[in-house]
Amino acid sequence: MNDFELCQAAIDIMKKAYAPYSDYFVGAALLCVDGRVFTGCNIENASYTPTVCAERTAFFKAVSEGERRFVKIAVCGGKHGEIVGSFPPCGVCRQVMSEFCTDDFEILYVTSESPVAFETHTLPEILPFRFTPSHLES
Ligand code: THU
Repeated sequence: MNDFELCQAAIDIMKKAYAPYSDYFVGAALLCVDGRVFTGCNIENASYTPTVCAERTAFFKAVSEGERRFVKIAVCGGKHGEIVGSFPPCGVCRQVMSEFCTDDFEILYVTSESPVAFETHTLPEILPFRFTPSHLES
């Protein structure tokens, strides 16, 4: 799957978001080393804090299916499901990416839907000085 197709997968799954409280729709499409793609949307809750972001939905779907090797993720979002400019993943989602991904992992910020456009960022760029599993080693 090429970058544009990955972005399109994020745009498609964004429409599945369950966001009755924020009306902010988010989609993510995670490309694995073996070529598989896991998608995710944000899922909100009346109690607010159980809300899960789109990126973590995608990661947790993948990890729970046995995937742990990832290449890149495309993310998009917008009020009412309309993409206006880039969508930066939240800090918690960046930390989850950090758990499983190496420095060359790419985050594609979708910037427009038609035609599809995106910006490419890396994990060290969006989460510098991060806490990683290696910090827990003696
Ligand atoms: N959201 C995501 O899905 N990903 C992020 O990285 C940040 C925020 C969702 C959570 C909530 O449903 C809505 O966007 C507004 O914060």
